[in-house]
Amino acid sequence: MSLDPKIVELLSDPETHDSLELGGDCLINPKSGRRYPMRDGIPVFFEEAAGTNRKYQTMYDRLAPGYDFAERLYYWISRKPDRRLEFIPELEIPAGARVLEVSVGTGANIRFLPANIEFFGLDLSWNMLRRCRQNLQRWRRDAHLFHGQGEQLPFRDAVFDCVYHVGGINFFNDKARAIAEMIRVAKPGTKIMIVDETEKVVKEHYRKNPFTRRVYQSEDRPAVAPIELVPAEMREIASRQINAGREYCLTFRKP
Ligand SMILES: C[S@@+](CC[C@H](N)C(=O)[O-])C[C@H]1O[C@@H](n2cnc3c(N)ncnc32)[C@H](O)[C@@H]1O
Repeated sequence: MSLDPKIVELLSDPETHDSLELGGDCLINPKSGRRYPMRDGIPVFFEEAAGTNRKYQTMYDRLAPGYDFAERLYYWISRKPDRRLEFIPELEIPAGARVLEVSVGTGANIRFLPANIEFFGLDLSWNMLRRCRQNLQRWRRDAHLFHGQGEQLPFRDAVFDCVYHVGGINFFNDKARAIAEMIRVAKPGTKIMIVDETEKVVKEHYRKNPFTRRVYQSEDRPAVAPIELVPAEMREIASRQINAGREYCLTFRKP
């Protein structure tokens, strides 16, 4: 399956930011000759994650088959409303907007977005992306998916009307770089949102859960809103706790 040339126009080499061209069944950087393959129609922008990204890539690849079921089970038992309702309505999504979710996972947030948008999702875990694609088919939603890292987005500058991230940045290899990348690809005036768990969830759940404890017990970075990594020139910088202190929601606007 090949990519729409209109989508290729929005892409860039995640390392050099040079533009890319379609070359048969892959994307090519004509300047360097570097090729990025397509796997089942999804462009693949890295081979193997390094540092702690590798650890989380492996963990999410393992969790992917049960991820949606675990979430459904939690809401069924707790009878709580979906936590996503606390932050998704805060996104500013005009009709026809081009929207990027960094770390799209299995696509759980997409169900809460309007249908009349052009959705792009990127993730580090191939298995999460595969699940996402299956979900999108079931929900009859269109999206463009990319296998890549939040720290090196394969998109041109200033192409998205809405950029957000939910649930992984606390333990990215390089949070500052990921935030800088979200800002780079957003159009001027875009509101950017970053949501992730607080230390409370990491301590009380992730370090105890048999599926995640090994990974989180070896983690010494605190799970806090990375507000100090938001460049001072951003506007309307605000952070608040949501979902009874289980998550933070950090928002700011690109000038
Ligand atoms: C808790 S899941 C959240 C998925 C989705 N955003 C949601 O709200 O359901 C975290 C996701 O972050 C992804 N992730 C972790 N580190 C990443 C990185 N450095 N770059 C891109 N994605 C990453 C994982 O693969 C996983 O799919």
